[in-house]
Amino acid sequence: MRVLPLLLALSSATEAVSVGQRRKVVRSFNVRRTKNSDSTPLQVGNGNFAFGADITGLQTFKPYAIMSHMGLAEFQPANGPWTDFHYTGLQMWTHGRLVTYEVPNSAQNDISNWLRENPHRLNLANVGFDFGRQGVTEDDLQHKSQTLDLWTGRLSSSFVYDGSPVKVETWADPDSDTIAVSINSKLLKRGLGLFFDFPYPDKEKFNAPFVGHFNLTSKHSTLLDNLSSNSARIKHALDATTYYTHVSWRGQGKMSGPTNGTHRYTFTTSQTSTQLIVTLSPSPNAQERTITYSGVTTASRTWWQTFWTTGAFIDLTSVTDPRAHLLQLRIILSQYLTAINSASNGWHGKFHLEMTLWHTLPFARWNRFPLLWRSQPATYEQFLPSAVARARMQGYGGARWGKMSDPSGRSAPGEINALLIWQQPHPMYFAEVEYRAHPNVSTLRRWDGVVSAAAEFMASYAWWNQSSGVYDLGPPMYPVSENTNPNCTRNPTFELAYWRFGLEVAVRWKERLGEAVPAEWVAVRDRLAPLPMVDGTYVVYEGIEGMWTSNATTNGHPAMAGLYGLLPPPASGKPLDTEALKKTAAKIRELWALKYSYGWDFAMLAMNSLRLGDPEQAVEYLLHPIFQFDDAGYPVGGSRGKTGHWPTSWEKDVQVGGFLPAL
Ligand SMILES: *[C@@H]1O[C@H](CO)[C@@H](O)[C@H](O)[C@H]1NC(C)=O
Ligand SMILES: *[C@@H]1O[C@H](CO)[C@@H](O)[C@H](O)[C@H]1NC(C)=O
Ligand SMILES: *[C@@H]1O[C@H](CO)[C@@H](O)[C@H](O)[C@H]1NC(C)=O
Ligand SMILES: *[C@@H]1O[C@H](CO)[C@@H](O)[C@H](O)[C@H]1NC(C)=O
Ligand SMILES: *[C@@H]1O[C@H](CO)[C@@H](O)[C@H](O)[C@H]1NC(C)=O
Ligand SMILES: *[C@@H]1O[C@H](CO)[C@@H](O)[C@H](O)[C@H]1NC(C)=O
Ligand SMILES: *[C@@H]1O[C@H](CO)[C@@H](O)[C@H](O)[C@H]1NC(C)=O
Repeated sequence: MRVLPLLLALSSATEAVSVGQRRKVVRSFNVRRTKNSDSTPLQVGNGNFAFGADITGLQTFKPYAIMSHMGLAEFQPANGPWTDFHYTGLQMWTHGRLVTYEVPNSAQNDISNWLRENPHRLNLANVGFDFGRQGVTEDDLQHKSQTLDLWTGRLSSSFVYDGSPVKVETWADPDSDTIAVSINSKLLKRGLGLFFDFPYPDKEKFNAPFVGHFNLTSKHSTLLDNLSSNSARIKHALDATTYYTHVSWRGQGKMSGPTNGTHRYTFTTSQTSTQLIVTLSPSPNAQERTITYSGVTTASRTWWQTFWTTGAFIDLTSVTDPRAHLLQLRIILSQYLTAINSASNGWHGKFHLEMTLWHTLPFARWNRFPLLWRSQPATYEQFLPSAVARARMQGYGGARWGKMSDPSGRSAPGEINALLIWQQPHPMYFAEVEYRAHPNVSTLRRWDGVVSAAAEFMASYAWWNQSSGVYDLGPPMYPVSENTNPNCTRNPTFELAYWRFGLEVAVRWKERLGEAVPAEWVAVRDRLAPLPMVDGTYVVYEGIEGMWTSNATTNGHPAMAGLYGLLPPPASGKPLDTEALKKTAAKIRELWALKYSYGWDFAMLAMNSLRLGDPEQAVEYLLHPIFQFDDAGYPVGGSRGKTGHWPTSWEKDVQVGGFLPAL
């Protein structure tokens, strides 16, 4: 079969792929390396916790990160607690009244910056081999070889040092922040040891692939406790944050340090055995965890096998089109990386209420709801009080979601952060996808509070324009593309369609529950401004100048492709104009500056092409020359989907999302 008909058939494919076949396909893409990459590690992890290894299976030569969902910290503001600063944001005229937005104001630059930078995600520790002498480099190792087994989550590394082979297996526990390592070598009897080091956090927004500073030692402190002959604990205190790294081992050894002027500790063996087993667990608690190496390896095998054998699977092995292999590679690697990297480190590691649709919705579309349920709808519920407070402060009803948010829901100051609106209907998208898979009253009840609060805000945000007799969205606001003047952006096309979709879901939700539907939801849904068009094409917003004649408007996120590529056809009101969708897609194809596009743009464009009956174009977008990935499946840049966004790996979950039709 060729790729194209296969992609078209995907939505109706029901044929089960056997466990044996899944294993064969997955393992055929096991990642193999013989030297370090300068920009990406090989990772093991579980979505709440991830470990980035270099060629040694640890972090001997490349300080890749150990990150956890719990690993957030704050710098101490220079002038006392930030709550004393009375952050005021910025007032902007909004339909005849002054509304306060969480936008930086020039009188409060310090606190705006502090709020953006804090809390931030930490690189919790580094661990690597200590060869017992200074200056050992990667070049001193021979026969380096490494395999990441995607089917079990096992990273096997081997190399020869000083004439002796060293074999390493690195595993992550699916259920805790734990790395389990087994090391086999005669060198263990001749001084091969480990080091542990602790960096101070960065202030950069995107700090990948190397996170933290190992030379700002006086800004933080560490303390070693020897707990027993087989375990030690290193306490790390940074500004307002303290956590503990528990290390335990099987075999003879001792932990000592730190080396003067550093936070580097050394583990030395006094082994008679050629095997050393070590587990490492960072934790907010001083209490030690009892986790064994074999417990971790057994759990990891089970977790990954369950991951690959439940949920959807795409098997392109019988496809003769030469592009099928590359698509299959990306399908497999992207799923592995998405499962590991749900905890994102972009935007200072904050929760991203705009991008969560692309980051986590694919779990639902691949029928892996348990991974989605880790964060949804719990995160929206957690943010509900702050979102209600935000809406009220601005004179609206319901709940207005922020953008890059800390665990309390506080949204980092930023012009785009504060004026973007398309994250508001996301809960309806999640809710509807879940209801389609689990159409029962539990689903309805779980999402009802969040969906209702979102709908109430959306209805009250829409502004009744007396002269045109429709509800307008904005100004001020930023559309998906983020590249217009917010003070004159009114009625953005995608947002209008998404508002209609969101309110439609909210209305249906109440009907399914047998409850009264608020009249305003229906009124706004049915009387939103029409989707703006110019010359038979959909455009970015109403009144945009030079839509297809100026290069200033044909870059950024091509959200018009989302009208049909992301949203389902409208269930009520005026249908989409298919001819206009096609003409718009053709204009985008012809004129859009994709070099300024982000990873998910390609997936959205591909889904749009697929729906418009042009699978050839869909494949072209997915395999576009400026949408490329490295050997381990990380984006390499070209477009704005850069490796620098690692470890979010959001380009890839979208890449995957692109294969299944949206709602
Ligand atoms: C929009 O208006 C606000 C004041 O309401 C102003 O501070 C801001 O600079 C304006 N933005 C642009 C892009 O003109
Ligand atoms: C400290 O380390 C950083 C990298 O984290 C490096 O850029 C900087 O030059 C180092 N500073 C000193 C004084 O060594
Ligand atoms: C921990 O044990 C090692 C090895 O016995 C020793 O060198 C070190 O001083 C001890 N550290 C603490 C804090 O007890
Ligand atoms: C480390 O510091 C201690 C105490 O300041 C000192 O006694 C010792 O000589 C230093 N060791 C090294 C290797 O510099
Ligand atoms: C609804 O569906 C979910 C998922 O299938 C299930 O766990 C739950 O028990 C169901 N609830 C009811 C009331 O049927
Ligand atoms: C009301 O809508 C008309 C037509 O779209 C538009 O020209 C006008 O600017 C809108 N009024 C306000 C106050 O935004
Ligand atoms: C638009 O074209 C002008 C003139 O060719 C060029 O200088 C500018 O960089 C282009 N802008 C974009 C966003 O491509």
